[in-house]
Amino acid sequence: MQVVSISSLKGGVGKTSVTLGLASAALAAGVPTLVVDLDPHADATTGLAVRPSDQIDVGRLLKDARRGDLAANTVPSGWVTTGAKSRVSGRSTLDVAMGSAYSGIYDRPDLGRRDQRRLATLLSRVSGYSLVLIDCPPSLNGLTRIGWTASNKVLLVAEPALFSVAGTERTMRALELFRREFAPDLHAAGIVANRVRHTSNEHTFRLGEMRQMFGDLLLSPTIPEQANWQQIQGAAHSVHHWPGDSAQQSAGYFDELLRSVLDSGRMRSRNARRA
Ligand SMILES: Nc1ncnc2c1ncn2[C@@H]1O[C@H](COP(=O)(O)OP(=O)(O)OP(=O)(O)O)[C@@H](O)[C@H]1O
Ligand SMILES: [Mg+2]
Repeated sequence: MQVVSISSLKGGVGKTSVTLGLASAALAAGVPTLVVDLDPHADATTGLAVRPSDQIDVGRLLKDARRGDLAANTVPSGWVTTGAKSRVSGRSTLDVAMGSAYSGIYDRPDLGRRDQRRLATLLSRVSGYSLVLIDCPPSLNGLTRIGWTASNKVLLVAEPALFSVAGTERTMRALELFRREFAPDLHAAGIVANRVRHTSNEHTFRLGEMRQMFGDLLLSPTIPEQANWQQIQGAAHSVHHWPGDSAQQSAGYFDELLRSVLDSGRMRSRNARRA
């Protein structure tokens, strides 16, 4: 089971959008996937069309991590019952560990080591998924640390703009420090540039800058700015299920991005096995 945190210490750059795009690609590809919504705003839960239910949200599960049953409290994404299901003949599952404001109790800067392990403990009793996507809030407070501790990969999201590029460098440094102190096996799956406008000179310049700064960590493809993205999210639909050429093109980008994320670190583990 690959566990991937989608992070950036800067807000509004597209973490939730990338999480939803990857979830949509995973559903279309038949990769059994669980989305853990760690952000107290619960945007991913909304975007995944989760219906009101009696299941326990992720904040309360974290509180009772030693006994909490995450597997029994996931809910299917509403996408699975729409056209997405027929695309994959109902084979795949896309489940959600629901976000809620309650998880905010852990979003403190001084969270201790034991608390940091709460999601890892919950996930250690979960099976049946090939992929877990964790949508993190925009800070390095407790919730992101909880996400990173439970993950083997972190996917960073950045916009090709000055403040976001600088924020990504800070996030990379924070990740390296975290890795050294708490999680030696954690690594960066890469950086995905989101909302790219290929007609913008500034974006082209910033992408070049990012390539110089981060090398191969800058993933291909980049995700373009998409005019109907908010409409798709507002309707709580999967991009693979939205009509029209531009949605299909976006869906293709996320298919490719999913492959890049799943493949990242393969060389590293192969080399580690050889050593
Ligand atoms: N590629 C894109 N094209 C067009 N709009 C986008 C794209 N990516 C994200 N957006 C829009 O930008 C806004 C912020 O995106 P999103 O909520 O995914 O960011 P976030 O990093 O999760 O934010 P937060 O830090 O608040 O959690 C949303 O309205 C979303 O629809
Ligand atoms: Mg978000």
